[in-house]
Amino acid sequence: MFDQYGRSINYLRLSITPRCNLNCIYCRPGHCPTGFDPYSQTRVLTVEEIDRLVRAFVSLGIEKIRLTGGEPLIRDDLEAIIRCIRQYPQIRDLSLTTNGQDLASRAQSLKDAGLMRINISLDSLRESTFAEITGNGSLQRALDGIDASLQVGLHPVKLNTVLMRGINDDELDNLFALTKIRPLALRLIELMPMNSLSATHERLITGTEILQRYPLLQRIADSYPGQPAEDYRLPGYLGTIGLIRPISHRFCKVCNRVRVTADGQIKGCLGKNDETDLRPLLNQPDDQLLRDFIRHAIHDKPLGHHFEEKRAPQRSMDRTGG
Ligand code: 5AD
Repeated sequence: MFDQYGRSINYLRLSITPRCNLNCIYCRPGHCPTGFDPYSQTRVLTVEEIDRLVRAFVSLGIEKIRLTGGEPLIRDDLEAIIRCIRQYPQIRDLSLTTNGQDLASRAQSLKDAGLMRINISLDSLRESTFAEITGNGSLQRALDGIDASLQVGLHPVKLNTVLMRGINDDELDNLFALTKIRPLALRLIELMPMNSLSATHERLITGTEILQRYPLLQRIADSYPGQPAEDYRLPGYLGTIGLIRPISHRFCKVCNRVRVTADGQIKGCLGKNDETDLRPLLNQPDDQLLRDFIRHAIHDKPLGHHFEEKRAPQRSMDRTGG
């Protein structure tokens, strides 16, 4: 369906848990001590509730779904959620964003359940920096998850890297090298002001700066109209390098997304505080009411984010979904 500004909304980002086994500096609300779980009490959507939601979204024209978190692999019933969504033939794309820590042993079962493709966070190739960014993460486990995803054919395997000045911006050569002989799609995402660290502008590395540093990057055609990443390739390399520039080249005008948080709030924009609680509607049998509610929320999707104000929205990234 179309929103009030004429944008066609066909993409749902569905967070299935705010909980995470990592503690990334750009994502968490503030400084959480390692091992502390701020969301242990959050009631997340059940498979039945997700089924009900997906049915309603599909009837309004949603064709693509990405499962996010928190860390979606924390849920034991992730495969059941995937199978449930794949019952709807209208969903032509089902993907997942993960930190990859527990992926190696699970990639095959996710593929078997019907997952089509995967995005894995990879912010550093230095063990110490990886641990510094993620709190307590293991670089090796993430790399094993990437290998397993390639092996089982969760294609295209995309890698999300958030560059931060003074932390990991000296690693571009090594990150680019990942795309040399493997069909990986590396994506460099501009740091968005989602918490106190990421709201400081000094850390931001823009896509423009990367293009200046790497004049050899060759632009390749978009795979579909309005895609947020601008894709590039280094000459002779198999994989691609995408620049996602929400700050320096905002793509709000072509944004086709709507989000549902793990606690059942529908949100039209990552960077805005708009949200409406869908949970009361999941407890009563009238599908029409749920559909009308979603239709209104999509219609009212904000025109664009206000990231340039450098004020973090009330919901940190982990509670919204990446
Ligand atoms: N800025 C940019 N990207 C972010 N992500 C999370 N927080 C931020 C932020 N502040 C992205 C990461 C992660 C995905 C879930 O969301 O790339 O892989």
